[in-house]
Amino acid sequence: MPCFRESIKKVSESSGTNLVLALDIPGRDPQALLRRCIQVLDDVAPYICAVKINKPLVLSLSLKGGVSKILDYAHNLGLMTIMDEKLNDVSHINLDVAEHYFEAGFDALIANPFVGWDGGLNSIFSLAKRTCKGVLLLVYMSHGGAAEGYGQTVIDPETGEAKPQYVIFAEEALAWNADGAIVGATRPDNVRAVRNILRGRIPIYSPGVIAQGGDPSVAVSAGANYIIVGRAIYESVSPRDSAFSLRERIAKISRSDRNI
Ligand code: XMP
Repeated sequence: MPCFRESIKKVSESSGTNLVLALDIPGRDPQALLRRCIQVLDDVAPYICAVKINKPLVLSLSLKGGVSKILDYAHNLGLMTIMDEKLNDVSHINLDVAEHYFEAGFDALIANPFVGWDGGLNSIFSLAKRTCKGVLLLVYMSHGGAAEGYGQTVIDPETGEAKPQYVIFAEEALAWNADGAIVGATRPDNVRAVRNILRGRIPIYSPGVIAQGGDPSVAVSAGANYIIVGRAIYESVSPRDSAFSLRERIAKISRSDRNI
C-alpha cells in the first residue's frame, strides 16, 4: 500500500493539480459550518489534491464529530487529508496527539522541528512510518515574524557551523525522512534554497499565496511541489472558479518549468 508521500503524488498527478485547500472557514454554528465545509469541498474537489484542516475547525466541529465527517467526505472524493497541528511538545504528548488525529482518519500532520528529535518528534515519526501516515515539517513559515525564528542565524549543534535556522530544519527534514517541508510562498528565495538542499527527495509545500501576498506561480518556479491555499478560495464569490483558475495558473508554470 503506498504511504502518504506517494499517495498524494499519485492523486496530484492523476487529477492534474497540486493545490491543497486550507479549509479554514470560520463559524460558531457547527451544523451550518459543517454544511458550508462540505459544500466548498464538493465545489472545488476536481481542482485540489488534498484538504488541510486547522485547529479552529477541530475546536468548532470536534474531532470525532464534524471533522471525521469531513475526512470521510474528502476521502470519498479521492482527496488526501492533512492536520495542521504544528505539533510542538514533548514526545509522549506528541504521540498521543498524533494518535488522535491518525485514528480519526488524517493521512498526515504538520509538526514544528523547533522541538527537536530526542524526546520531541521522534515518537511521531516512528508512529507515522509504522502506520503509513505522513509528517510534514515547518521549515520556514509564511508570515513576516517567521524571520525572527526560522530566519535567524544559529550555530549548528552537530557541526558548530553558523547557519540559518531554516537550513538546519531543511537538513533535518532530510535526515528524519519527513514527508514534506513547508516553506512560505511569501519567500521564494528560501523556497529555492530549500529545494537545493532537498533536491527532489522531499516535496515542498508552500502556503501564504494571494491573501498573504505570495504568488503561487513564483513559488512553483522556485521549487514548491504543492501550494496550500485557503482564503483565496473559500472567501471568494465562487470557490469553484477561483480554484479552477489557480490550478490553471499553476499548471502553466508546472508544464514549462517544474522540476519535481
Ligand atoms: P490562507 O488563507 O492565507 O491560509 O491561504 C493559509 C493556511 O496555511 C496555514 N499556514 C501555514 N501553515 N506553515 C504552515 O504549516 C506556514 O508557514 C503557514 N502559513 C500559513 C494557515 O494556518 C492557513 O491554514
